[in-house]
Amino acid sequence: MSADGFTTSPPPGARADWTIDQGWESYSRAEHDVWITLYERQTAMLPGRACDAFLRGLDALDLHRSGIPDFRRINEELARLTGWSVVAVPGLVPDDVFFDHLANRRFPAGQFIRKPDELDYLQEPDIFHDVFGHVPMLTDPVFADYMQAYGQGGQRALELGRLANLARLYWYTVEFGLMQTPQGLRIYGAGIVSSRAESIFALDDPSPNRIGFDLERVMRTPYRIDDFQQAYFVIDSIQTLQAVTLQDFAPIYDRLEGASDIGIAEILPGDTVFTRGTQAYAGAGGRLASARG
Ligand code: PHE
Ligand code: FE
Repeated sequence: MSADGFTTSPPPGARADWTIDQGWESYSRAEHDVWITLYERQTAMLPGRACDAFLRGLDALDLHRSGIPDFRRINEELARLTGWSVVAVPGLVPDDVFFDHLANRRFPAGQFIRKPDELDYLQEPDIFHDVFGHVPMLTDPVFADYMQAYGQGGQRALELGRLANLARLYWYTVEFGLMQTPQGLRIYGAGIVSSRAESIFALDDPSPNRIGFDLERVMRTPYRIDDFQQAYFVIDSIQTLQAVTLQDFAPIYDRLEGASDIGIAEILPGDTVFTRGTQAYAGAGGRLASARG
């Protein structure tokens, strides 16, 4: 069942759990080249920006060699490291299907790759975002457990009607999370590491707020899906993130029922502020005002 109470059926050709064969043999030379271009762009700049766990995972998976990775090969390594696997899906899947995969340590990844003229921006997550962005962190044992727990938590949030709150946790950690390290702030969020522009913006731009991670605060903060974030949340370590999210969320959901949302660019008196952003980028209209395309 999905949140609105009816089951959506998988598209033609997909299995009941929405998975399809990756069809690795069918990728064209041009599609492999898109992967290589994106891979080289990102790996050239991520040392010193991405966290160690991500860079280690990237190495362990040896993702680039001949272009788009074959899931059968990645899955041998992933199974050995953390027991996760990657499964191919045609595109976004319903929430209940997504959570069921995560709860069983399967990461659903888009099978398709973006076109050469959309290297910098696309609406739906493709194989580069899903595999380059997400899979390296799944080689980290603690993060791997966090993702599985998130899947179980998602199933529960669906039942409790609190998915809107839980989704913000995913967004501000798995997709757009930053981490504090002795060497400075580092990226671990998949939405950042898979984007050239946001890998720079998230760490270096004076516009966004960078605020210490606080579970309830994050669950009260809306996010943008169409542009760079106006706020990033900083964790101390994957271990702390896991420890905080181990607690029972039911009492938190109860409290959130009566709590209002926090403005997307607001800074609260209790926040640990790493950067008080100027919000200049969003104030100027963001992507709409800048050179898009
Ligand atoms: N502890 C959460 C709950 O009780 C589950 C969860 C774990 C959610 C980890 C997100 C991440 O619902
Ligand atoms: Fe993602």
